[in-house]
Amino acid sequence: MKTLIALSGSLRRDSANTALLRAALALAPPGVRVVVYEGTPMLPFFNPDIEADPPSAVRELRALLSAADGVIVASPEYAHGVPGAFKNMLDWLVGCAELGSKPVALINTSARAVHAQAALAEILTTMGWRVIAAASPVIAVANRGFDQAHIAADPALAGPLLMAIGVLVQADADIDAP
Ligand SMILES: Cc1cc2nc3c(=O)[nH]c(=O)nc-3n(C[C@H](O)[C@H](O)[C@H](O)COP(=O)(O)O)c2cc1C
Repeated sequence: MKTLIALSGSLRRDSANTALLRAALALAPPGVRVVVYEGTPMLPFFNPDIEADPPSAVRELRALLSAADGVIVASPEYAHGVPGAFKNMLDWLVGCAELGSKPVALINTSARAVHAQAALAEILTTMGWRVIAAASPVIAVANRGFDQAHIAADPALAGPLLMAIGVLVQADADIDAP
């Protein structure tokens, strides 16, 4: 069983990015489990002083990712940047060598949100993670009011999402291959 952790950059209740990741959970093929991480709002502000002995919410996040075979990221763009709460979550992971070179599907839910997408690719790569270009399509669900059921049922949206999951799982298998 392959486990993929889905990280949304939005805290919004009706977030398009979170809806897309929940659709990924619903669509995951046999042998693949998608876990949508919901803990970002509970994380304290990152502080290097407590990085080595962090609060339990941070330890749980690190353990979840450490055991994962890959990561799916979908985030809105705020003022041409990465949402602060999401960057705060990523900052807690920067120094974690145990996370290794996680393969990442970096899905962009808005074709015009090019700045946050580029920044996220740079941040994740700097963290040592491997952004898989072929698993990182634009799936334009932002600002359209779609819920997860709609996304999962629309072949034009579910198709690229399933493709991204497949490429991500294969990228992990390629790392594991001798
Ligand atoms: C404070 C704020 C700033 C935003 N700045 C941008 C921006 O710079 N570029 C952009 O394409 N969209 C911008 N947006 C629009 C959001 O990225 C868009 O509504 C997105 O769908 C929100 O994602 P969510 O539905 O997952 O919460 C902004 C929205 C907010 C609330």
